[in-house]
Order: sequence, then C-alpha cells, then structure tokens
Amino acid sequence: MTTTVLEVGVAERQRGDLMQRVAPKLHRQAHEVQPYGHIVKLPIALSENVCATSVELLNQILADTMTLRDLYKKHHWQVAGSTFFQLHLLYDKHYKEQAALVDSIAERIQLLGGVSIAMAADVAETTMIPRPPRGREGALAQLSRLLEAHEIIMLATRSDAEKINGLGDFGTNDMLVGSVLRTNEMQAWFLSEHLVDVPLAAVE
Ligand SMILES: [Fe+2]
Repeated sequence: MTTTVLEVGVAERQRGDLMQRVAPKLHRQAHEVQPYGHIVKLPIALSENVCATSVELLNQILADTMTLRDLYKKHHWQVAGSTFFQLHLLYDKHYKEQAALVDSIAERIQLLGGVSIAMAADVAETTMIPRPPRGREGALAQLSRLLEAHEIIMLATRSDAEKINGLGDFGTNDMLVGSVLRTNEMQAWFLSEHLVDVPLAAVE
C-alpha cells in the first residue's frame, strides 16, 4: 500500500496538533476567578455574612502575622551584641512558629470561601504594625519592637475571637484562641524575660 501526499499532510497536521498540546502555554493573562473581598459560599453550614465577617477580620490578623514573621527574620539576620547567639536562635524559632500560623490563617480564610491576602505589597498596605527601619537596630530595640507587634496582634485576636464566637464560627474562634493567641502569648513571655534587670548571681 502506498501513502498518498494527502495522507502525509494529514499525518503531519495531526502531529503538529499533538505537539502544540505538550508545548507550555506562556504569558497567558486572564481575569481573576475570585476578586479579593468576595466570598464564595461553601457547604460548611455557615452563612455568607458570617464567613465574610470572619474573612475580613482574619485578613487583618494575617497581614499583621506576616509582618511579625518577617520582623523575626530581619532581627534573626541583623541581631548584634553579647546575646547574639541566643537571640539569633530564638528569633528563628519564633519565625518558624509565626510562619506556621500564617499558613493556618490563610487556609482558614480560603476554607471560609474568602481570598487570603498574600503578597508583600498588599501586606504592607494592610498591617497595623509600624514599619521598622531598613538598617540594624540594637537588641533592646529589636525586643521592644517585637513585643509591641505581639501586643497589637493579641489585642485584635482577643477582640475578634469574641466577636466571631458570637456569630457561631467556632472553628475560627478555636484557631484564634488555641493557636494565634497562645503562640503570641508564649513568644511575648520569652522576649519579655530578656528585658528584666536580674544579675547572674546574688549581689550582697
Ligand atoms: Fe538563619
């Protein structure tokens, strides 16, 4: 059986179509599938209004937690002085715990049908935590700055947890109290104990 010119052309076109399927499609732009601030109703037995309130409050706590997380890394890198080693390690431990909170909060926002804030520029516009200088600060200033950030988050978390509990979103309340609040309280304790004036040995 001989292959005609027509058959060869068809086979080449088919191969070309297949090749196009495996070629990566780059530089595609599309409309958002869900704009920020809009809720998609998911079957979790909570009203859209309740989800919208929880999402709005959570996005503020998310932006502040991302800022605190990054503040810990900044200070982990830039710390100086005789307490360098212990603060360098402590800051990184707290950074990791804050990073875990960021993931929990962001995913909670998504499961409520919302859109979590994500990018640094949006976080910078949203956070209530004062912007630190680009340069290095001394250890005492670092500790004070971190404690102030913790307190901003704890204040908002307690108030939001109460409000959200009243709306019946117990899952978000549980996360805010059990994870966010308790982690921040514990970290604030560890930082605060560096700021007391206690001598290494008793002085007579
Ligand atoms: Fe490191």
